[in-house]
Formats: sequence, structure tokens, C-alpha cells
Amino acid sequence: MLNSQTLQHAFELHFNAKPEWIVRAPGRVNLIGEHTDYNDGYVLPMGIDHAVWIALRPRADGLVHIHSLDLELDSVFKLDGIEKGEGWAEYPKGVAWALREAGYSLRGWEGVMTGEVPRGAGLSSSAAVELATARAFACASGFEWDAKLMARLSQKAENQWVGVNCGIMDQMASAASKKGHALFMDCRTLDIQHAPLPQGVAVAVLDTSTRRGLVDSAYNERRVQCEAGARFFHVKALRDVSVAEFERRKDEIGDEAVLRRARHIITENQRVLDAMEAMRANDVSRLGQLFNASHASLRDDFEVTNEALNQIVEAAQAHSACYGARMTGAGFGGCAVALVREDSVEAFIRAVGAAYRHKSGLEAAVYVCQPSEGASVE
Ligand code: GLA
Repeated sequence: MLNSQTLQHAFELHFNAKPEWIVRAPGRVNLIGEHTDYNDGYVLPMGIDHAVWIALRPRADGLVHIHSLDLELDSVFKLDGIEKGEGWAEYPKGVAWALREAGYSLRGWEGVMTGEVPRGAGLSSSAAVELATARAFACASGFEWDAKLMARLSQKAENQWVGVNCGIMDQMASAASKKGHALFMDCRTLDIQHAPLPQGVAVAVLDTSTRRGLVDSAYNERRVQCEAGARFFHVKALRDVSVAEFERRKDEIGDEAVLRRARHIITENQRVLDAMEAMRANDVSRLGQLFNASHASLRDDFEVTNEALNQIVEAAQAHSACYGARMTGAGFGGCAVALVREDSVEAFIRAVGAAYRHKSGLEAAVYVCQPSEGASVE
């Protein structure tokens, strides 16, 4: 992981001074509860030990100057009259805009930013940038940190400034996760519970190394289909429909795609609740079964997997040390997540890498993730 001295040193080189704060915000992996967040449903992600970091000090002239260490690019913007542009700086700019819209009086700062969250892999690198930026503003402007509000405003930045129609899961995971725990969340109320991960289990992230464009349009199409499902049941969101009610009425739905999208969301919400039960009972086998069922539902009903995700999940599920595996994040490429017996994780990583190479001809990056703290000042 990143050594904060390296970041401090980079700040000194770039700005010829010492930073006053170092802040970080993690990426996330979602354990279970996929595409449920924008249906007012339940999710169970965790912050990971790959974060976005910013070293910063305040400025008195109302400017924000960010140097991206990874891209070797600088962005300077004025808090009074932030203007839209293109590229990586739209995330921090969008957060500044959303904070001001919410009435925060902001002070400028200069900072060096670097990220360890792979981009476009489905591990929420953009939420990590947003929450690290919000943390930086909280330090520079001296306001109190309110994780839920900061998650909401970061989501607003992403929805309205960047123009991506995401739900609230990624920002909440980056803002409010707790070390050693998964984050259970009701996306309607934003009530959260920190659930300890079962003993002896490792969370492995399996990056297929496939990335897909056009995720946005497919994502928006799913949202529209889910809304059609909610209208059929005369409810605010599919979260309000039980599995039993769905089974009773599904034949009246008519539209086959809406039926399958709704079945995924309704059963997935139940799987998140069941996963919480399984975690409470330390029943890892049950948790693994729920992972496998979630993947099948995302593949067959929600149709957001690609061949690479299916291949890597099959490779993982076939290994004797694996309790269960599924795709994670929006889908169409990116990463899967597996629950693995901790004492066999090295063998698992080697075997899945080889099996995936054999099936797909591609190289996977497989690594164990530690559940990590949400956005913090180091
Ligand atoms: C993306 C979105 C989230 C969520 C997931 C799917 O990560 O940003 O809000 O909808 O996809 O579960």
C-alpha cells in the first residue's frame, strides 16, 4: 500500500512546502446486493485496502489546485464560478460544486492526489476520488465530517456534474466502511450496520482484465426496466415486493425482460438479508451459496455479465477452497469476488489464474482485499 511519506515527498517537490493533511478514501468491493441500490434495496459492500490519497494544504485565494501524480496532470479551478470541462478533474470539481450547492462555505487548497484503485475495474475508483476530495475540503474548510451527507453529495456530483446515473452504494461504502467489517446498508433509509467478516475467510478480488464501454447505456436501460417492474406492482420501488408476491403475480407481467429484471432485484434483496443471517451465524458455506446464486441471477435474469466474468467465476467456484463467487459492481467486465478459505488462498490464486488463462486466453489479476476504514484523515 501507499506509503504516506512518498506522497508527502511528492507534495514537497510539487508545491515547495509541507502538506498540512493527508486524507484517503477507499475503493470498494460489493460482497452481495447488485443493482439493488437504485431499487431502494439492500447492499453489502466493504471498503478495500486500495484507496485514493490526497496530501494538501489550504490556500487563501479561493483556488483549488490539484496535481495528479498518476496522470502527471494539473488542474486549477476557482471555487467562485466552477466551470464544466472534461476528464479526471470533473470529479473533484463536481464535489466542490455539490458542497457549495449544499451551503458549505469552502476554502481553497492545493494537493497532490494519487490512487491505488484500478480504474474501470468496478472497484469504485471514482467514488474514492469523490470522497477523498470531500475529506480534503472538510480539512481545508474546517467543517465536521458527516459520512452519509458526504456520500449523498458525492453521488449528486456524479449524477449531476459528471452525468453518471449511479446509485448510492459506492459513495456510502467509501465514506462509511469500517475496518474488518462489511457494510450492510438499506439504500432507502441509509441505515447502516457494520457486520464483522467471518473468521478464517479471505475476500479475493478477481479482475478479468476486461473493460467494457457502453456500460452507462446498459445501466440506464436496466434502471428503466426496474422502474417498469415497480409500476406493475404499484410500489415506489422493487424493494417493496416480496419473493412470495412476485411468484404469485409474475405471470401477469407480460414483458419478459421486465419479469426477469424484477426477479433478479427481488431475489437479490432477499439474498442480502440471508447473507446477513449467514454472517451472524458464521455460516460461510451458506454465504458462499448465496454468492453463487447471485451470480447466476445476474447472468441469466439481469444479463450484466460477460463471458470473461462467467469464466472467472466458474474457475473460482470449481476450486475446493472457494465457498462461493460472483461478479461484482455494475458488470459487463471488470471484477468478480470470491470467498476463499484463508489457509488456501495462495493455491486458490494460482489455480484460478491458470484456469482462467486456459479458458479465456487472458491474464487475471487476483488479490486478497482487507476490509478497510472509510474516508479518513491519516
Ligand atoms: C455501479 C453503481 C452502483 C451500483 C452498482 C451495481 O457500481 O455505481 O450505484 O448500482 O453499479 O450494484
